[in-house]
Amino acid sequence: MANEPEKEAAGRAAAQLVRDGDIVGLGTGSTAYFAVVALGERVKAGMKILGIPTSSQTAELARSMGIPLTTLDEHPEIDITIDGADEIAPDLSLIKGGGGALLREKVVASASKKMVVIADSSKVVAVLGKFPLPVEIIPFARTVVEKKIAALGASTKLRTTEDGKVLVTDNGNHILDCSFGKIDAPATLAAQLSSVAGVVEHGLFIGLAQVALVGRNGKVEETAL
Ligand code: A5P
Repeated sequence: MANEPEKEAAGRAAAQLVRDGDIVGLGTGSTAYFAVVALGERVKAGMKILGIPTSSQTAELARSMGIPLTTLDEHPEIDITIDGADEIAPDLSLIKGGGGALLREKVVASASKKMVVIADSSKVVAVLGKFPLPVEIIPFARTVVEKKIAALGASTKLRTTEDGKVLVTDNGNHILDCSFGKIDAPATLAAQLSSVAGVVEHGLFIGLAQVALVGRNGKVEETAL
């Protein structure tokens, strides 16, 4: 795919920021994949880290790469988390959750001293909102939550798998992909969504990432707050 080299460059650059002895949050998705592989290579070369995966998919990949894993209960403070994003705004606010792992991703990011977001250049936007915002909900509340989100101005679509079944997250929940159009006030929308009973978490990540590494034209562009 056209963006793979950009994703790999960003993922590899982020893996270089990890230091011996770090507790590392391991993101989910096709860009985070490259960071986990690069970290696995560094572990094979002798670096000692413990990873906290944000999904069962990433846990499996990390194990296959020989990265020792731990839990948030054992290590509630993470040194650095590396994760992808569906959109990155200039202030490093993000839309995440296209891969369905937003809940654990947000918990891990919020427990991290530093979050590094990695992406190909297609993810950089001036204003968030072209990518439908993933919102994780409890299945029991679906219709009620759909109505409340519609009242906030979005059309919603229940996430399904490729074979047409309703997607169930690692936490046993469902995801509504919510098309708001341009999100001019992300913090306001984040607060509104968080106040809807039945919403477990939403994919607006505000004030969590401090560094963005974006692959573009064979280079990696860094934005640091
Ligand atoms: C996973 O739930 C997501 O937040 C991903 O980090 C995001 O969808 C980016 O994925 P890609 O790196 O595969 O584009």
